[in-house]
Amino acid sequence: MKIDSFIKESVINLEPYTPVEIEQDTNVLKLDANESNYILNKSLKKKYADFIKGTLINLYPDSDNKRLIKLLENHYSAKSDNFIFGNGSDELISIILASLKRDVIVNIPYPTFSMYEIIAKFNELKVNNIELLKDSFELPSDILNQDATDIACDKRLNGYDSEKTEKCCRQKNIYFFAYPNNPTGNHFSSDMLLNLLGSKNNIVVIDEAYLMFSNKESFIKYLNKYENLIVLKTFSKIGLAGLRFGMLFAGAQLINEFKKIKLPYNINSLTLASMEFFLNNYKFFEKNIHKTVVQRDKLFLKLKKLNFINVYKSDANFIFFGLSNKDIKSAFDVFLKKHNVAIRNFTGLFENFYRITVGLPSENDKIIEYFKEFDSIN
Ligand SMILES: Cc1ncc(COP(=O)(O)O)c(C=O)c1O
Repeated sequence: MKIDSFIKESVINLEPYTPVEIEQDTNVLKLDANESNYILNKSLKKKYADFIKGTLINLYPDSDNKRLIKLLENHYSAKSDNFIFGNGSDELISIILASLKRDVIVNIPYPTFSMYEIIAKFNELKVNNIELLKDSFELPSDILNQDATDIACDKRLNGYDSEKTEKCCRQKNIYFFAYPNNPTGNHFSSDMLLNLLGSKNNIVVIDEAYLMFSNKESFIKYLNKYENLIVLKTFSKIGLAGLRFGMLFAGAQLINEFKKIKLPYNINSLTLASMEFFLNNYKFFEKNIHKTVVQRDKLFLKLKKLNFINVYKSDANFIFFGLSNKDIKSAFDVFLKKHNVAIRNFTGLFENFYRITVGLPSENDKIIEYFKEFDSIN
């Protein structure tokens, strides 16, 4: 049997998303996936267990649970007509991309969160990588002049090439921006993002997975103004990655379309009950977010003192850095392995770059101790 003949070429050609390999039962310093390493304290754990033990797992989950909806409306100052839930925001990215016509171009910064491109590709959509500016990792200013926007079309009208103008005015685009960006840790200019939202040819997705670690405001406040805006949220980065709960916010028209392809019961009953419990106990997470931000800034200053890396300022719960000398890459990789340190590395143009999640104070101290050792021998 030739399985290949059944499978879409767009799937066959794909490289799967590969989490950093971690051997079970080793004492790994796990700082690769931007999770939170703060765990529930004893009393909260007990209250949590008491709360969820009444969950009726014999029934299908009830995503319309009024108490949960109210809590989320308050948490995000948004109306329930403007949001849907996803099994992590990954599922919501998948729903967005599955709904698009084949001729919509998927524009994503390079580098950014890899799932945008992976999911776009298996949906047979064309991907346009927008290379970020060197070192600042800002969007290039000519992003607004790309063929695809109608701002560019206006400009072309003056130059005059009627055929091209026609074509580019019809070109539809979707943009995905992680805000702050993963892995670079910076925010893109909100003016630029609003400019893109000003075009009827664009849908703009603002993925706020890490916004709680920064002092920038959410784009949720623009939902009433822009019907082409989508905002993504997740609870994965504050200590609830295992529950898989993400949210998509948009105007009524987009929500209505996404609801048609969202699988029924996509969020399981235990996750729904857990979310209700944790939103009622959100102070615990607020404290940990604050601790993470303090730790991030300390870690940044310490990393900056090392010679073997160039470190970039971050508004998220991770820090991006590059090796000052690419020849030490294999020695550094061996060193990380020897010390059981799991951090994210990259390929392509960024193969000498790494992203480290901000850990607990003791984990960050260990990292600095190890990195200082490597610095002294390189
Ligand atoms: C920018 C960004 N968006 C979305 C996600 C996925 O989040 P979730 O766990 O909610 O699927 C990640 C995870 O790393 C991310 O970095």
